[in-house]
Amino acid sequence: MKRTLLAIAYVAAGFAVATPALADLQLATAKNCMACHAVDKKLVGPSYKDVAAKYAGQKDAADKLAAKIIKGGSGVWGPVPMPANAQVNADEAKKLAAWILTQK
Ligand code: HEC
Repeated sequence: MKRTLLAIAYVAAGFAVATPALADLQLATAKNCMACHAVDKKLVGPSYKDVAAKYAGQKDAADKLAAKIIKGGSGVWGPVPMPANAQVNADEAKKLAAWILTQK
């Protein structure tokens, strides 16, 4: 609760840009990713912590995930597909993939 309030305070104060992790959470929120994903629990899609654990140590993981974020797809976590995210450009997809892979 305290962390949530702190996060809100930071965003409200406009500090998010200066704080990379928060800026990327903000990007994920702005791009609607958090409608289906949470950092630490499964929603429609896998939690970002689970994604990070699955791909830990794979050096091409960020590129692979960035492509999947843009194109969507199914079959890795179950039958439910992730729709294509056309609102995300290649740079944003890479940033989001890199951020997701740092979740622990
Ligand atoms: C409509 C719901 C929905 C939205 C919106 C959504 N996702 Fe997903 N996401 C899913 C589902 C379902 C899966 C599991 C797909 C699978 O099993 O292959 C998934 C899987 C993923 C994976 C793991 C892919 C893999 O192959 O292991 C990543 C990373 C991811 N999403 C990131 C994002 C990002 C970043 C956004 C925002 C731009 C986003 N998602 C938006 C539903 C969604």
